[in-house]
This record gives sequence, structure tokens and C-alpha cells, in this order.
Amino acid sequence: MTMTDLHSHILPGVDDGSKSVEMSLDLLRRQYEDKVTQIALTPHFNFEKQSMQEFLQKRNNAARELGLVFQKSGLVQRMKLGAEVFYSSQLAETDVKPLCLTGTQLLLIEFHPAYYPTEAADVLYQLTRRGIVPLIAHVERYVFVREDPNLLCDLIEAGAYTQMNATSLVMHKKHQKLFLRMIRRGMIDVLGTDTHSPTKRPPKLGAAMSLVNKKCGENAMRQLIKNANTLFKGGQPSRPVPQPMRQILGHWM
Ligand SMILES: [Fe+2]
Repeated sequence: MTMTDLHSHILPGVDDGSKSVEMSLDLLRRQYEDKVTQIALTPHFNFEKQSMQEFLQKRNNAARELGLVFQKSGLVQRMKLGAEVFYSSQLAETDVKPLCLTGTQLLLIEFHPAYYPTEAADVLYQLTRRGIVPLIAHVERYVFVREDPNLLCDLIEAGAYTQMNATSLVMHKKHQKLFLRMIRRGMIDVLGTDTHSPTKRPPKLGAAMSLVNKKCGENAMRQLIKNANTLFKGGQPSRPVPQPMRQILGHWM
């Protein structure tokens, strides 16, 4: 089954991801071996650090540079440009279309790892009213989500989709049970690599999908794959309402 990665830092020299065209090709080759044939290139963008124009120019230049080498590489993958936008309340009133995944209304948004902006659900809802489809990056990495996973239900209700990192699922054994439970409860729409380099968050989508298949069943795995394919094309997958968890003796069940 063809897989899509909606979150990656494969573009060379734009952010803290790939350092060179060679490293980018290495990451793409690893993804290809993992049967990932559609990839969103989503470098970090922060309203407070850069102008949107500056960012887009730098990103597009890197894409051209990678494209030239990619053509000769023998790899056949489909790539689209996007961004991973650091959450700001400005999002509600900014024209964010240029930051969306090419040809779609999909906007990848990340929060500060430890701080949940109380107005976030409201801002996300405002975005959806303007036709934007928010996708929240690596939801399992936020302290506030691990402390109360039901927060994801609020974000989903506001109209956002949710993404989990493949490496978190495969490599962070301490929280693996909780992360798998989030998937079973319908709180996670897609898995992505968020790959930065072969060592910092290597692309592990294949291994993560195998784990989901084994622990949550084939249907859950197929749903995650299908959702990512649909979002990459610009569609909006339908999904069942997530089931909230209950805290029992300090554990979310
Ligand atoms: Fe990222």
C-alpha cells in the first residue's frame, strides 16, 4: 500500500532538518525503501522569526536545488511543498494560503512543547471557517496532551486533524501504551515521520505502521494510511468521533 508522509524536514539547508542535498537524498531513499511514495516537505516557519516572503523564497530555492539532483537519482516519489507553522494567534487573521501544502488547504501547525494556548481551539475553528484544514503536528510530544489526552477531542471538534510521529510510537517505549491507546480511541488521524536527519528522528513510517497493525489491527493501520493519502490530495477524510479516555489510578485508559 502506497504511503504518504505529511511531515518532514527533508529540504536541505532551510531549518534544523537536512544539512545537505546528499542527506536529503539519503532520507528520500530510506523513505522509498519504506514504501513512502508521497512526501510533504514541511520546513519550520515562525511568524516571529521570519517574514513569510523570506521563508517561501528560501524554501523554494532549496526545493529547486533538491529537485535537480532528485531527477537524476532514479527515485520516483511525489513531493509537495508546505510548512510546519509555529502556532500564533495571528493565524486567525493572516492569509496563510501560501503556507498550505501545494494545491491543498492543508496547514501543518505545531504548538510550543509545554504550553497550550487556551484560545487554540477557537483559532483553529476560525481557520476552518476560512476553508483551511489544520493538521496538528506530533500531538503526542506535547506535555499537556500526555497529561490530558482528551484535549485532542477539543482540537478535533474544532475541525483539526491530528498527526503523530512514527519515531515516538516506535522508539519512546515509556509512552507507547498511551500512544497506541490514542490511536485506538480515534484521536490520531495520520502518522508522519517529522524526519530531520538519519539520526535525529529517522524516517520510520514502515516500522510504525507494522506496530499499529500488530497492536491496533489492520483496519486501524489502513485508516491511518488512507487518511494521509486523502489529505495529500486535498481531500478531507471523514472519521468517527474520538472516544475520550478516563483516568484510572493515574493512567489514562
Ligand atoms: Fe517537524
